[in-house]
Amino acid sequence: MDPSVDPARVARPGAFRTAARLLSLCMEGEIWQSTLGMGLMLLGSGLGLLQPWPLKFIVDALTVKGPPPGFIVSTLKFTSHALPIGDHKMGLIILLCAALLLISLAGAAVTVLSTWLLISSGLRMVFKLRCRVFEHIQRQPPAFHDATTVGDSLYRITWDTYSVQSLFNAGLVPAISSALTLAGIAVVMVGQDWSIGVVALVIGSLLLILVRQLEKPTTDLSTRVHENESRVSTRVEQTLAGIRAVQAFGRENYEANRFARQANESLRANLRLTLLQTAGQSGVAVLFAGGTAAVIWMTAQRVIHGELTPGDIVLMVSYTAMLFKPLETLSYTASSIQGAVAGAHRVFEILDKEPVIRNSPAARPLGSPVAGTIEFDRVNFGYRADQSTLRDVNLTIPAGSSVAMVGPSGAGKTTMASLIVRFYDPTAGQILLDGCDLRKITIESLRRQIAIVPQEPVLFDASIGENIAYSRPDATPEQLHAAARHAGAWDFIQAMPQGFDTPIGERGVMLSGGQRQRLSLARAFLKDAKIIVLDEPTTGLDAQTEADLLAALKRLMAGRTTIVIAHHLHTVRYMDHIVVLQQGQVIQSGTHEQLLAMEGLYRHLYDLQSQPHRTAAEVL
Ligand SMILES: Nc1ncnc2c1ncn2[C@@H]1O[C@H](COP(=O)(O)OP(=O)(O)OP(=O)(O)O)[C@@H](O)[C@H]1O
Ligand SMILES: [Mg+2]
Repeated sequence: MDPSVDPARVARPGAFRTAARLLSLCMEGEIWQSTLGMGLMLLGSGLGLLQPWPLKFIVDALTVKGPPPGFIVSTLKFTSHALPIGDHKMGLIILLCAALLLISLAGAAVTVLSTWLLISSGLRMVFKLRCRVFEHIQRQPPAFHDATTVGDSLYRITWDTYSVQSLFNAGLVPAISSALTLAGIAVVMVGQDWSIGVVALVIGSLLLILVRQLEKPTTDLSTRVHENESRVSTRVEQTLAGIRAVQAFGRENYEANRFARQANESLRANLRLTLLQTAGQSGVAVLFAGGTAAVIWMTAQRVIHGELTPGDIVLMVSYTAMLFKPLETLSYTASSIQGAVAGAHRVFEILDKEPVIRNSPAARPLGSPVAGTIEFDRVNFGYRADQSTLRDVNLTIPAGSSVAMVGPSGAGKTTMASLIVRFYDPTAGQILLDGCDLRKITIESLRRQIAIVPQEPVLFDASIGENIAYSRPDATPEQLHAAARHAGAWDFIQAMPQGFDTPIGERGVMLSGGQRQRLSLARAFLKDAKIIVLDEPTTGLDAQTEADLLAALKRLMAGRTTIVIAHHLHTVRYMDHIVVLQQGQVIQSGTHEQLLAMEGLYRHLYDLQSQPHRTAAEVL
């Protein structure tokens, strides 16, 4: 195979570079804690390696004639002052049992502490990464969100960010710890007897191969179990969701049989998985027993020949048992790292994405006071390269004047509003505010001057008051109330059980369409901006509320540049200027009277709306 196309070869350097990049990004501020945690973890591994030794000395003390090793004799001498134990051998055994206990206790304490330090470091890294990705995603312009589903962004922020913890706590840390533990075990075993050490390593590796061989069928089967379980839940969900239809058409037996078939498939998959797991565990146990027997046999031979002591049998068997864990961990860390790197790639896809709409180096904040003259100068725009949504739009909206945009659905009215707030930039031409290209103004200072009421109200799962104050968090209650009054929202808010503190549910589901619209308007009124953009502000309102709102709007428009997008032409007849858009082009403009006086789309639309008793066919 051509090595240049081997995916593993291609992926590996990238994977490690990504892993290193992710860790270096998140390790900031965690170095000391991580290093301390790692140091303690290695100490814990060292203590673990010491554990079989007291047992070996106990066995040797009971079976081997002659004095115990020198360091034990001196420890015994030292402790005999504090703890006078008559019998020399008993003293030795008590000492060794105490050592066994102490090693275990110290090991447990060190493990708890190091695990806490390392896991908390890992979780803090996730926290920092999440905040970073969230911050970055919410700064992306609408074009990004148009192309990315909310589910995908949600997954990247909530789950893909855990990749840094997997990388650290399931990759890097266990890899270092297992490699060193393995080295420690190998050194001790080979030091005692190299041939037994090699045999133990071979057996450990065989065990590993067996476990890895079982991994794929186990994963496949457990995936099948999950799929079947999920189908069972879906079956229940669908039947219960349509329970009225099930009962009305007498299909209970049919649904019961369908459910039983699905549940039976799940049962069979589950049984197969259990069988495989039990057989696998037994296989591992048999291989392990065989390996242990081989080690015991070899060590016993050396004991008979006087080369090793009986305690060494305990030592070697213990180390053989210990061998498997770090080998297994090491074999899994590669796949843990690969899995984490997949998440890391998705995180970097976001972090590396520079917002298309951003402040250029030449951008300056808007000087105050802002007059509010808006000019579209030969503006072309398309959401996609092959699409032309706005074509050669020229329009001047003098400061403090009001302009209405009317035209058929899809003509590009909302698009023009989006360009004014710089949700998108024109593909050709420019938009100017007080004679300055919007791209030369910082986005924050531009948006501070504009209050927009979007076509679809955007409300959050918070109280009515919080939703209105979203545009101006420091507003006083009086300002909040005045905005609600202007938007015609006062009465219905007062009728709510908790007034302004009433929660409105996700996206305002607890409100009617018209009530949502009025909250959205109140929010824009509260902002008290120099430029107001209202995209169909009266949709969903009854005739009286609409009339009240238009009156309020008239008062509010004084001294501000106002752009109103509307389908109902009677909403816009009092505007200073009306622009008629069709297929992305300005086809007519003038005052209501001027437009009515000429042949064209405006008069046509006006006729259609003002003579509702006639059918559309008649008008046409
Ligand atoms: N986010 C988007 N991505 C791609 N195309 C879009 C997007 N938003 C709007 N369009 C397209 O751009 C064109 C103009 O849409 P726009 O929303 O500006 O129309 P509109 O005049 O506001 O219509 P309506 O009166 O129905 O609100 C339409 O053809 C629409 O399909
Ligand atoms: Mg629109």
